[in-house]
Amino acid sequence: MAWLQLQALAAVLALVAANGVSHGFEFHEATVEAIHLGFSNGSLTSTALVQFYLDQISRLNPLLRAVIEVNPDALRQAARADAQRASSGGQLTGGLHGIPVLLKDNIATLDALNTTAGSLALLGSVVKRDAGVVVRLRQAGAVVLGKANPSEWSNFRTVDSGWSARGGQSLNPYVLSSTPCGSSAGPGVAAAANMAAVTLGTETDGSILCPSSWNSIVGIKPTVGLTSRSGVIPITPRQDTVGPMCRTVSDAVQVLDTIVGYDAFDAEATGAASKYIPAGGYLQFLKQDGLRGKRIGVPNGFFQGYREAELRVYQQHLDTMRNHGAVVIENLDVAANLTALAVDIASNEFMAVRAEFKLSLNAYLADLRYSPVRSLADVIAFNNANPVQERLKDFGQRNLVAAENTHGIGSVERAAIQRLEELSANGLERLMKEQQLDAIVTPNSSASSLRAIGGHPGIVVPAGYGEQGVPFGICFSGLQGYEPRLIEIAYAFEQATNVRRAPMFKP
Ligand SMILES: *[C@@H]1O[C@H](CO)[C@@H](O)[C@H](O)[C@H]1NC(C)=O
Ligand SMILES: *[C@@H]1O[C@H](CO)[C@@H](O)[C@H](O)[C@H]1NC(C)=O
Ligand SMILES: *[C@@H]1O[C@H](CO)[C@@H](O)[C@H](O)[C@H]1NC(C)=O
Ligand SMILES: *[C@@H]1O[C@H](CO)[C@@H](O)[C@H](O)[C@H]1NC(C)=O
Repeated sequence: MAWLQLQALAAVLALVAANGVSHGFEFHEATVEAIHLGFSNGSLTSTALVQFYLDQISRLNPLLRAVIEVNPDALRQAARADAQRASSGGQLTGGLHGIPVLLKDNIATLDALNTTAGSLALLGSVVKRDAGVVVRLRQAGAVVLGKANPSEWSNFRTVDSGWSARGGQSLNPYVLSSTPCGSSAGPGVAAAANMAAVTLGTETDGSILCPSSWNSIVGIKPTVGLTSRSGVIPITPRQDTVGPMCRTVSDAVQVLDTIVGYDAFDAEATGAASKYIPAGGYLQFLKQDGLRGKRIGVPNGFFQGYREAELRVYQQHLDTMRNHGAVVIENLDVAANLTALAVDIASNEFMAVRAEFKLSLNAYLADLRYSPVRSLADVIAFNNANPVQERLKDFGQRNLVAAENTHGIGSVERAAIQRLEELSANGLERLMKEQQLDAIVTPNSSASSLRAIGGHPGIVVPAGYGEQGVPFGICFSGLQGYEPRLIEIAYAFEQATNVRRAPMFKP
């Protein structure tokens, strides 16, 4: 887009962003907690809330392209939530009841919305049932607001660009000339720009934490299996996970609390991970003094390539953690040679994932009630037949073809998976156990693969803004099931630093 056009739009959007106060309720940057208060003191209805986000979407989406579809049923769902709250005598003002949630477009809904991972190939496909996480959202009385724009095939195709054939190119609402990272670009942008109350993204290796960093929001990448992957267009069940992308830690934890748990359609992983879910849920870990006594490690090598100004900010953040009672241990090593580790992980991860992707995508497509494509081979043929719409010249489909050329999990793939397990055990897991760490801290989403290969969780919190105004984040990671202490750390850090501000729509 031409620079002058961007500048004019930026001026309009800055005005739009300043609006949003009415009837005493401040819609702009509203938290789940504020929404609960608004519901119970009568200054807010779910209908008004949904209408606010629908208006935001119709104003901002032509530029930001964060949303692919809005739910034609959203206002009806909101009215139902309002009626339920009224007839409950105000009892129903907790959790996500009546709260609009935007879903990444690879999360299936059995309703008027399409589920396509941003690809035209899946347009018109019909799922048999809601995704496991959507079942939980509906049980909680949340409103399904619509589908958010992913990087197509959730980054197995258009890596990190935030582009999809159906949604177009998402832009970063802070600096319009920059992309928002992917693959959960749409949820990240929509949360940042107040186009939804809360959103859900998915991650295989960095896809929640990267766009969260770049859009100054909080992203939780849960332990694999903590949240069901049933009904989610897959990359690999070994690494895929569904998690919240929201404006505050507290909002993200509200969402996490709602979506975790056993699902018969993802029985093995959710069954194994349910031991990590604490009695009483996750809200109890939103503690002001959550940094106190925590052992936080700073592994070497991840801060390389950062500008002096950014490094100073990160250093200040470490001081803040210390000032709030954390034991921050610098100068730790994940591996004797981090570059060599990264190379080892990348090659084995790709080896494993391309075979797993073919198997799991074919299983997803075969299970649809109706679909124009029934296999990865069909998808590749579709892209070849529609090269302009699918931008084959720009993005190609090399990874899709490499996946198609695999033949299940053979000896090569088994060796790769075993190698990944060793690298995880001797890397992040060894370091955390040796040093008895509660978390490691790294910038942006830079340690994504370390978490990905072990199914380990991470939380990104806004950390600062670069010279041009592009946000950056800070990530706290732990071992499987460490969500309670990561939440304590992330919440206390957020309360102490308060870095997030609403986007400025700079050109
Ligand atoms: C109700 O709560 C909202 C949200 O915190 C607040 O903005 C508003 O001023 C309150 N209104 C009344 C009438 O108490
Ligand atoms: C789903 O896709 C169809 C095209 O196949 C379109 O007509 C319909 O409007 C889409 N649904 C929504 C809610 O946008
Ligand atoms: C960290 O992320 C920000 C965007 O969020 C980006 O501008 C910056 O270059 C990143 N730093 C590195 C070293 O990757
Ligand atoms: C670390 O590994 C990289 C990649 O394998 C290699 O190029 C480099 O020489 C190694 N560095 C050291 C200090 O061994």
